[in-house]
Amino acid sequence: MSIPNHILEQLNSQADLVSIIGRHTTLKRSGNEFRGCCPFHGEKTPSFYVNPQKNMYHCFGCQAGGNALGFLRDYENLTFMEAVKELSQQTGIEVPEEPRENIRYRKTAKPKAAAVSQAPVTQDTSSALSAKDTIDPRFADAVAWSADFYDNSYDSGYDDGANDTSINPAHFSSPAPFSSIETMPAGGYFEASFDGEMAAAAQFRQAQLHQDSYPSASAPIESEKDGSLYDLLEQICKFYQNNLTTHEHAKRYFTARGISEEIIDTFALGYAPYGWQHLEQAFPEDIEGLKLLGLVRKSDSGRDYDLLRDRVIFPIKDSQGRIIGFAGRALDDEVKPKYINSSDSPVFHKQHVLYGYYESRQQRANDWLVVEGYMDVIALYQAGIYGAVASMGTAVNESQISRLLQLNPTLTLSFDGDSAGQKAAWRTLEISLPVLSDDKELRFLTLPDNHDPDTYIKAHGAEAMKKQISAAMPLSQYIFAYLSIQHDLSLAEGKAKLMSQVRALGALLPKGSSFRYLLNNEIYQKLGGRRNPNRDAKDALLNFDGGMTASQQLQLCFLFQPRALIDDPIEHIWQKAGIHNLNLPRHIQDKAPSDASRTLAWADLQDAALLDVVSTIQRCQNVLPTDTNAAAHFILSNLKFDTQQALIAHWGDFYRAFNARHILNIDDLIEELVSGMLEQYMKNKSKQLVKNPDIVISTIIRSQTQLLNQWLRSYHAELSAKMMTI
Ligand code: UTP
Ligand code: MN
Repeated sequence: MSIPNHILEQLNSQADLVSIIGRHTTLKRSGNEFRGCCPFHGEKTPSFYVNPQKNMYHCFGCQAGGNALGFLRDYENLTFMEAVKELSQQTGIEVPEEPRENIRYRKTAKPKAAAVSQAPVTQDTSSALSAKDTIDPRFADAVAWSADFYDNSYDSGYDDGANDTSINPAHFSSPAPFSSIETMPAGGYFEASFDGEMAAAAQFRQAQLHQDSYPSASAPIESEKDGSLYDLLEQICKFYQNNLTTHEHAKRYFTARGISEEIIDTFALGYAPYGWQHLEQAFPEDIEGLKLLGLVRKSDSGRDYDLLRDRVIFPIKDSQGRIIGFAGRALDDEVKPKYINSSDSPVFHKQHVLYGYYESRQQRANDWLVVEGYMDVIALYQAGIYGAVASMGTAVNESQISRLLQLNPTLTLSFDGDSAGQKAAWRTLEISLPVLSDDKELRFLTLPDNHDPDTYIKAHGAEAMKKQISAAMPLSQYIFAYLSIQHDLSLAEGKAKLMSQVRALGALLPKGSSFRYLLNNEIYQKLGGRRNPNRDAKDALLNFDGGMTASQQLQLCFLFQPRALIDDPIEHIWQKAGIHNLNLPRHIQDKAPSDASRTLAWADLQDAALLDVVSTIQRCQNVLPTDTNAAAHFILSNLKFDTQQALIAHWGDFYRAFNARHILNIDDLIEELVSGMLEQYMKNKSKQLVKNPDIVISTIIRSQTQLLNQWLRSYHAELSAKMMTI
């Protein structure tokens, strides 16, 4: 959502910047400004200034500076929208809300007084008569339905409300007689229970009627009135919260799980009562809204029913703290599914939501921890460990990970120790790799004895939990630990398979990632291998840009290490491969031109850019600065315009990639690239000779090629012998 510039300017100029920054460092007035120690770079003598007139801050030590929105973003790690919201609250300047159409629904026009007396009573109420007699007549109809449909076993068909069709329509069209409902408590209790249920809904409704946000009972309701889903969600949340005070067994569930009153409040925990239509009863004008939210469903037989019944409720909040959905947990572990989440709706998009995010932000959490369950988030919070978030019952996705990594470059992921948990961890690892640039780090936490954070804290306490979090495994270690269980590492085949999986993972990392190289290297060494420095350089080159030609790669290498041209690399290979000393048959020798065995010159390669680089370096070899980067720029400035442009485009990345890996010597890489070019040269020559056969030249080229290939084979064999010493 975009916010008009003039509003942003107003927010920045009217924000109380001194008090915002004053939360983090002591500011003292100094003339027209305020001065203090910079919160960004931690100093002893103050060089940080806040100017309340301009409403800007600046640090002369670390050059940090900016306005209020910038400070909230850079120091408090708020997202742009969060910062805007905070300043809007502080200044009272209203920020236009996001487009409203999609969050509105039509209220049912039903004058309340009339609705009460005219409530239609359906015929099939016989089985519920005893309950009906004792309740508010407004709910007679509903009670009848409830009695008919009451059956906990329906729960087993719902997951996430997404599969409505799994509900057996037979249950609805031919309601079971009372006596056959197994889960139903005996008669007396049932009446009392339902009586209580209806009384609670009615009470809540009464309370609502007297609230300002609702028209008074006597006032007619405007028919075209519509409602906001956010407001409705807020009201439903209050309804559920209220139920917790009236349903002792639900409250007991939370207390038995060790949740304090305060935490119940913070997370707005509640209870959705028994009864198939409690929401409709409490919010008779809001049926359309309830349906949009997926909290009220329509059965195949056309009757409406509540998604969440007899479940403790975990309201889901967005990053601004607005209620956007609910999760309901069965009170009995045997009931399946254990959790039901309300479905995606115009305001609830599960893939963007992290449970506990809002509460964590309120606590200015900085160390983020992804956990699996709602209860884990709550238990960690209660233990004073802020920053735990959970996804909505589905796997956490790339955008959630990348959002958390923006807040803090280190992110810990906690998964259950069972095989499902570990699979989820691995999947999360795979989806996270593309956003894992070199400055970011993932850590993996698997708690011992199949604990989840909630049970671990209960068993061992908050301090032990904190220790576990700080001892979480770094990514490379986790990858090795996970893969080494899957392969028999006593066999070369097992090691090779593991390495190939590691390489496949590495390929998922962002382009130019040094971590890819480090990961390969570390795991390779763990397997007992020793790295060849040439490989390091080659990996770096390939990782930073695979799209360059061999010639361009070689040119960059020469820029990086111009002294490699002091001894001519072609000549070097020529000598080592023995090409300078061709052993030609007599009759060929006699007819061969005098320079048949002369060493190839760079010009022979017919590569203008490469020749430009080589000859420029050879020309200025003696005057080159010693610093690598400076020397490269010196050479670059002496190249022809086209060569220069092509190389400048790559130089920065190339230089960074090599520096990041501390690659100092690239003689071997140069040798490999040069021999590759020689090979190519000879191939081209042979091709030309097919068109214009010349027996003497052909023989010479063939024999040169043979010698070069022989040498290359032994060279590569030597390299791989070094590589594969495991
Ligand atoms: P778990 O089954 O691991 O439960 O589900 P838990 O978090 O430990 O829950 P408690 O402690 O028994 O209450 C982990 C998460 O998976 C989702 C929920 O988000 C839950 O928090 N889930 C689980 C569902 O969405 N539906 C289910 O039926 C079960
Ligand atoms: Mn749990």
